[in-house]
Amino acid sequence: MLKVNVVSHPYAQAILTALRDRETPQIEFRKGLVRLGRVVGLEMVKEFEVEECEVETPLGVKARGVKIKDLDRVVIVTVLRAAWPLTEGLVKIFFNAKQGVIVARRVEERGMRDYEFEVDVAYVKVPTITPESIVVLSDVMVATGSTAARALREVVKHGRAKRYLLASVIVTPIALAGLDRVARELGIDLAVYAVAIDPTVNERGYIVPGLGDAGDRAFGS
Ligand code: URA
Repeated sequence: MLKVNVVSHPYAQAILTALRDRETPQIEFRKGLVRLGRVVGLEMVKEFEVEECEVETPLGVKARGVKIKDLDRVVIVTVLRAAWPLTEGLVKIFFNAKQGVIVARRVEERGMRDYEFEVDVAYVKVPTITPESIVVLSDVMVATGSTAARALREVVKHGRAKRYLLASVIVTPIALAGLDRVARELGIDLAVYAVAIDPTVNERGYIVPGLGDAGDRAFGS
């Protein structure tokens, strides 16, 4: 089953607007992705279980509060390269997370067929996933869902997790439909977090209006 959460906070929407702007230079673009990683991570934490607790303040008075459960069970898997800065923000929230990486790219030279791309996976390094793990897949632009779906397939080879979350910036309805199919096929629930759902992709599989090639804008000229 798929659950979709759009991060509508004005802070996130303002950063996204700057990222969409073609005039935003590389460094500002990357910083924006880092900031969005924090905001998306905070939004994810809303769904974590909390445990009530009590502490004693320096005044010798008891104060009731909460602890967030499972923060140390998070495994962030980054789809390189574009999601690297997004993950930099996520780890500020999931400060005890283990990390894995998947180097994957859509084979754009072969073209898009029925809104799907072949995906070339060059490298996978993912820690062992246990039934207590909470996997956060970090993938900035989920246009057709081909890469994210392939990354999920790679992740489940390393064990079954308690929960699967996807941290992204822009997704499309096409990608969400594809991810829903893959989640059902893999028998997992997937909670998608995005800052926007853009309506479509162009003939080259780029999200419209989107923000262009996130990897090139974060690391290119
Ligand atoms: N990847 C990107 O970086 N941008 C898109 O629009 C689609 C995929």
